[in-house]
Amino acid sequence: MKKIFRDKKLTIAPLSAKDLKCAREYTDFINDLITEGAKLLMNKKQTLKEEQGWVINVVKKVKNKEKVFLIARDGKKVVGNVSFESMTFRKNHIARMGIAIRQGYRGNGLGKYLMSEIMKLAKKQLKVKPKIFQLEVYENNKPAIALYKKMGFKIVGKVPKQIQYGGKLIGEYIMIKEVK
Ligand SMILES: CC(C)(COP(=O)(O)OP(=O)(O)OC[C@H]1O[C@@H](n2cnc3c(N)ncnc32)[C@H](O)[C@@H]1OP(=O)(O)O)[C@@H](O)C(=O)NCCC(=O)NCCS
Repeated sequence: MKKIFRDKKLTIAPLSAKDLKCAREYTDFINDLITEGAKLLMNKKQTLKEEQGWVINVVKKVKNKEKVFLIARDGKKVVGNVSFESMTFRKNHIARMGIAIRQGYRGNGLGKYLMSEIMKLAKKQLKVKPKIFQLEVYENNKPAIALYKKMGFKIVGKVPKQIQYGGKLIGEYIMIKEVK
């Protein structure tokens, strides 16, 4: 599907086996976020081989309906992704979210759009219907926390000293949204 965010016409599509050919574009995307110091878990640049392994793993999970995944592209360039993955066993009613938008594409409503689409997809496609949407976020990640609150997530707890960032140990908020 094509959609315009400010002046940029982006293509938004679910990840599929075709994307196994696009590992180079994912490598550029993740490495751009890592170079920037984005407030994500990962902090080590990925090689093409590592990224290929990651794509294979995600494609498998999507096929098994354990994960839903959307990618936004500007031409071939990957500019955003969002996903929900079911947790396992006694926690499989919980689906955990991840989102990242590339620098230069933020603040145009893409994050909001991807979140609303992925929540619909998670309800429709995950093998185990989620009852709780959940995520973790650095306590100092203001744009992300504002986005999540706007999308109906609530902070339910804070776990201290979870993340090594800028020479400090940063706490993380746990945020949830009950799925109706
Ligand atoms: C967090 C992130 C996904 C937001 O995506 P985005 O496309 O910029 O967000 P949107 O343009 O859809 O904005 C949605 C809402 O988020 C909030 N927001 C976005 N940017 C903000 C900023 N710089 N400061 C404060 N709030 C901000 C606003 O409430 C905004 O709603 P509004 O436009 O109605 O005011 C994006 O900044 C990002 O990928 N950051 C780097 C990676 C990251 O931190 N991921 C989250 C890890 S938990």
